[in-house]
Amino acid sequence: MARPGTPTLPRPAGSDVLVRLRNIVGQAHVLTEADATAGYARDWTGRFVGTTPAVVRPGTVGEVAAVLALCNEAGVAVVPQGGNTGLVGGSVPLGGEVVLSLRRLDALGEVDQVTGQVTAGAGVTLEALQRHAALAGAAFGVDLGARASATVGGMVATNAGGLHFVRHGGMREQVLGLEAVLADGTVISHLGGLWKDNTGYDWSKWLCGSEGTLAVVTQVRLRLVPRYSHHALALLAFPGARAAVAAGAALRATLADLDAAELFVEAGLDLVCRQLGLPRPFTEAHGAFLLVGAAGHEDPLPALAAAVESTEGLVDAAVADPGRYEQLWAYRERHTEAINLLGAPHKLDVTLPGAGLADFIETVPGVVAQVAPQAQTWLFGHVADGNIHVNITGVAPEDDAVDDAVLRYVAACGGSISAEHGIGTAKKPWLHLNRSEAEVALFRSVKSALDPRGVLNPNVLLP
Ligand code: FAD
Ligand code: MLT
Ligand code: ZN
Repeated sequence: MARPGTPTLPRPAGSDVLVRLRNIVGQAHVLTEADATAGYARDWTGRFVGTTPAVVRPGTVGEVAAVLALCNEAGVAVVPQGGNTGLVGGSVPLGGEVVLSLRRLDALGEVDQVTGQVTAGAGVTLEALQRHAALAGAAFGVDLGARASATVGGMVATNAGGLHFVRHGGMREQVLGLEAVLADGTVISHLGGLWKDNTGYDWSKWLCGSEGTLAVVTQVRLRLVPRYSHHALALLAFPGARAAVAAGAALRATLADLDAAELFVEAGLDLVCRQLGLPRPFTEAHGAFLLVGAAGHEDPLPALAAAVESTEGLVDAAVADPGRYEQLWAYRERHTEAINLLGAPHKLDVTLPGAGLADFIETVPGVVAQVAPQAQTWLFGHVADGNIHVNITGVAPEDDAVDDAVLRYVAACGGSISAEHGIGTAKKPWLHLNRSEAEVALFRSVKSALDPRGVLNPNVLLP
């Protein structure tokens, strides 16, 4: 028996716990067979594979609360999971935890036309939210390639960024209130959606980016953004990344309707086209590309065309008609899929200060080559946010020498080791590169106030 005040270490669920879990959510919603749980225990990339005694699928907030109260009392560790599209090993049971799948919490409230807000269950997929908002004449400000599976709860927990961050910000900027369940089963709710509400700590923002370590999100009050009637999209080609980065910065400053500025380079384009059988967008090869999107209530094409006209260093450009939008987006969005076909990559999602971004892009492949000469480095990302995805293939999943080299280099350049995917288990050993001892101590204080027994995602984020 532990002394009072001594945290007991979370342990695997025993058969008594499984019986009680079945009593809470029903027999059909506690999965224990290996073939039924396998998809919940392996991450999207295949780099992180765990095992679990059970996947529990509650259908109501009351059931989430009862499951957590039981696991907390029994000292059983829990990994909350939404769409399992996370890319840092944070959504899978690497320490034999119970998986708490929130996907059944998929109710969507009516869009409030007065405030332009909606309440969504944690298990609502991004795609379902987007469709729902569109039917009400609105839109949701965050978009990701994983829209078919990523859930609202997972996106809050990772503070997802995505393709339109430059215009609307990330998840934190969309969240107006939350309902969540603490580790001991206490339900906390603040879903009123008041635009101005200075009544103490905004705990809903604490949960944005908390990666399932502080509480389980069950409902979210979200702001919607205007559904623009006019769109324009252009693919710009440059001799190299430096010119593309400069163009991204210039477009950000001059194009009022800019809603995406996405960078990729020739090697990635070539890979996407070869792996996925897409036609090349230009007959000639070019060093780097910028996919530039604009949207407005009036046609943004003239402004986009004028901005493109004055873009320095441009060597080719394709302004798409609406029928080709999907194809142009595929060149950028499908990098994730094409790279994964080469084998589980090391995914290092980083932000650099604007002034150092082009230097970083040019030099980071050399940093990788020094520690892993056989590796390939793939670069793409949300250039207007200073966010570059450094993906490395040809390195064994557990060999983290490249992670160490790149993340130290990022920190030395004044950047962040996680722009949008989170720390998870993948980057936990390097959190100290961006966060001081005092900050990590503060993180721990918050964690132990909300989850004193350490049952919520104990292997994630905090070293
Ligand atoms: P999961 O993967 O299930 O979980 C992620 C984390 O959140 C885990 O730590 C988990 O424990 C926690 N969690 C999940 N649900 C809850 C909950 N209800 N309460 C508390 N904690 C919870 N990310 C970006 O930011 N930008 C992108 O552009 C982007 N593009 C992507 C494209 C592809 C093809 C893929 C595969 C992934 C992409 N991602 C991107 C990463 C991923 O989609 C996001 O991190 C997303 O927010 C994860 O949502 P999810 O529901 O799949 O969460
Ligand atoms: C993206 O921007 O495509 C995503 O963050 C996914 C990835 O990094 O592969
Ligand atoms: Zn991204």
